[in-house]
Amino acid sequence: MAKTLIAFYSRRGENWVNGGVRFLKKGNNEIIVEKIKAQIPDADVFQIDTVKKYSDDYMVCIEEAKEELREKARPELTAKVENMDQYDTIILGYPCWWGLPPMAVFTFLESYDFSGKKIVPFCSHEGSGMGGSIRQIKMAVPDANITAGVAIHGASAPNCDREVKLIITQAK
Ligand SMILES: Cc1cc2nc3c(=O)[nH]c(=O)nc-3n(C[C@H](O)[C@H](O)[C@H](O)COP(=O)(O)O)c2cc1C
Repeated sequence: MAKTLIAFYSRRGENWVNGGVRFLKKGNNEIIVEKIKAQIPDADVFQIDTVKKYSDDYMVCIEEAKEELREKARPELTAKVENMDQYDTIILGYPCWWGLPPMAVFTFLESYDFSGKKIVPFCSHEGSGMGGSIRQIKMAVPDANITAGVAIHGASAPNCDREVKLIITQAK
């Protein structure tokens, strides 16, 4: 039976929260994914992670990310999804980095055949909303059915039940 995969990228460490730098012990997308999983217990969860880690220091990390964006880098990931064929719906979560998903999300999207699958993007952010992410995801996987997506203010991740409902509605 076709299943749902919740794939996400999230980074712990210093981040921009409500106008200042704060250390996050748990990433915002990690928190959001726990809430989604609680609503869809039979979904599988896959964490998109890079072999080369970004700095915990926010100011260093934004420069690292800017350089990767400039280079259109495709950072190597630590793991692969075993059998993507078993999923018909992929809920895809990521933070907004310079108005786009982190480059690791594009490594992920370019690693599988998503033809005919539904992708439900959600993006945590500190003011940019979805940024240009939907357009770029559509370009990366033109044969997938990509929904409107859901933007979530990162600092509100612990209280995002309304947005989680929207994600699940788009996944149905
Ligand atoms: C490298 C980097 C770039 C960012 N760029 C943006 C941005 O362009 N717009 C925005 O609203 N937030 C930006 N942020 C803030 C994150 O999107 C936000 O804190 C997000 O909730 C982090 O999610 P995570 O904890 O799951 O990684 C940036 C954060 C980092 C680390």
